Amino acid sequence: MESIDALVHALADAIPATQRLESPALRTAVLRTWASSLARSPYENLARSPQAPHMPARPLLHHVNEVNARALDLIDVARREYGLQVDSDVALATAILHDVDKPMIYRFDGKTFSYAEGRTLRDHGALGAELAVEQGIPLEIAEMVRHHSAFASQGLPGTVEGTIVHYADWVSNDFAAILMGVETIHASTRPVPKTKSEG
Ligand SMILES: [Fe+2]
Ligand SMILES: [Fe+2]
Repeated sequence: MESIDALVHALADAIPATQRLESPALRTAVLRTWASSLARSPYENLARSPQAPHMPARPLLHHVNEVNARALDLIDVARREYGLQVDSDVALATAILHDVDKPMIYRFDGKTFSYAEGRTLRDHGALGAELAVEQGIPLEIAEMVRHHSAFASQGLPGTVEGTIVHYADWVSNDFAAILMGVETIHASTRPVPKTKSEG
């Protein structure tokens, strides 16, 4: 098992958006939260951990970095095009950490997806929030991690930061779903047409 410090070092490279956090204390806590999740999982890095039950062969690392990049885009749009006040550290730290517990919950042997012993999808978010609090992540961010999954909890708040992370997460998931030929979340949560509308 790699030490937490070695994992923190590797994760700082693997998740470049961590460098965009303005608070050094928050950056350290974010990296240590990810490191503690990996240390409690069978995966030595995020490229080995599955993204989601409906696309387990896709590495979680792709999704995390895609969500971070979209969150940075939306922080910029909210400020520049709408003149909105954004706490970028809150939005970005939530984006980076929203799926931090997945390595502790998801299992994939290359063929079959399953859940870690005693875990279900309902743990997603709550377990990440617990881990985040343990590592000193501010409660506001930890609570957004807890509630980000509309399947397991109430979903993100209607604040600017909550809205940014919601759309960053869903568009990243749904573009990957289209790429992988599986159903998008937005289509699976309501009866929308599967193909282009006529007329
Ligand atoms: Fe999630
Ligand atoms: Fe996600």
